Amino acid sequence: MDIDLLVVGSGFFGLTIAERAASAGRKVTVIDRRNHIGGNAYSEKEPETGIEVHRYGAHLFHTSNESVWEYVNRFTKFTNYVHRVYSTHNGQVFALPVNLHTINQFFGAAFTPDQARALVKEQAGEFDVATAQNFYEKGVALVGRPLFEAFFAHYTAKQWQTSPEQLSGDIVSRLPVRYNYDNRYFNDTYEGLPKDGYTAWLERMADHPNITVSLGTDFFDESQPLHQGAVVGQLPVVYTGPVDRYFDFTEGFLSWRTLDFEQEILPVGDFQGTPVMNYPDADVPFTRIHEFKHFHPERKDIFSGDKTVIMREFSRFAERDDEPYYPVNTSADRVGLLAYRDLAKGEKDVFFGGRLGTYQYLDMHMAIGSALSMWNNQLS
Ligand code: FAD
Ligand code: NA
Repeated sequence: MDIDLLVVGSGFFGLTIAERAASAGRKVTVIDRRNHIGGNAYSEKEPETGIEVHRYGAHLFHTSNESVWEYVNRFTKFTNYVHRVYSTHNGQVFALPVNLHTINQFFGAAFTPDQARALVKEQAGEFDVATAQNFYEKGVALVGRPLFEAFFAHYTAKQWQTSPEQLSGDIVSRLPVRYNYDNRYFNDTYEGLPKDGYTAWLERMADHPNITVSLGTDFFDESQPLHQGAVVGQLPVVYTGPVDRYFDFTEGFLSWRTLDFEQEILPVGDFQGTPVMNYPDADVPFTRIHEFKHFHPERKDIFSGDKTVIMREFSRFAERDDEPYYPVNTSADRVGLLAYRDLAKGEKDVFFGGRLGTYQYLDMHMAIGSALSMWNNQLS
């Protein structure tokens, strides 16, 4: 085999490794079981409207890491998009994250920061964070019952399909509340969306004479030449698929949440006036609605068209065949993960990375940053 490195998975982690290795003169093959590159960051034009749709959920790029920012700018320009999210509760629209505007609208008041802080502190006195018995009590202990019930309790219950009293308090350590009018969602130094889309960016990373990409190719499919049994021990492998699958689930199935997306094209120019509207109430089955054209107001002709694409997002526990999106991280999962980490150490020349390979939620900039570190510290 004329290959120096096999990369399993063409998401940001795998492509960063492949690009670095190729630029250092190595011959790299990237395989992915899906029929497109890019992992969950992949996006495509909805054919009827030309609107860029993020197939695996809306992806917003943001980072404070200088070397990651420098690196990603080699492959794409970024727009000056700034992410903001609103929330429709009880037939009224509020700004998120919960901030002084949200609090004043919610209580029909004109509190100063100190007054709002004092009110929330008093309401939070109902429970103590240290002794809270479940997510419900902990949430009330953090932000008080009124704000918790309006913006967090049912939203989180819908994300987990579990009542707030049955959820563990461990799923939160804090809840975001700001005592000023700042409603920027992220507070990183750099933020923006890739000017000509995620897929163009991802394709540019793979566009190198030393990189071969093979799509529709599963690492565990023994009928394809670069399968696990044929390559492990023969050449270095960077594996970004699920770590439990690599070891055939011998230490148990690590649990994930998944999302279901319902996409719709509507004959209106503008459905909701903003990219993301949350629905935190119990009587609405979905958690939020994305309206993709609002991610790119600078695409003037597409933006002003008389159709729009929306996507309702539903959340639930993943079955084995569902896309794994967010690690659940129960205590059983943590035990299983430690066992898999031990097994992984014993795999000669196999490097586990990315969100699936390490069972961690990673933002894009974190996946890229950790791939750059793996390249610099272990592979180069
Ligand atoms: P992935 O992108 O998941 O890539 C892994 C690849 O491995 C996949 O393409 C998969 O098909 C392939 N693979 C798996 N098993 C095999 C196998 N057996 N054989 C061959 N190939 C295999 N990040 C942000 O920074 N901002 C956001 O707004 C944001 N929003 C998100 C929203 C959602 C709903 C989700 C789920 C994630 C979001 N992220 C966001 C995170 C972002 O998607 C990840 O950082 C990124 O996907 C991590 O890249 P990765 O390469 O580790 O994994
Ligand atoms: Na408290």
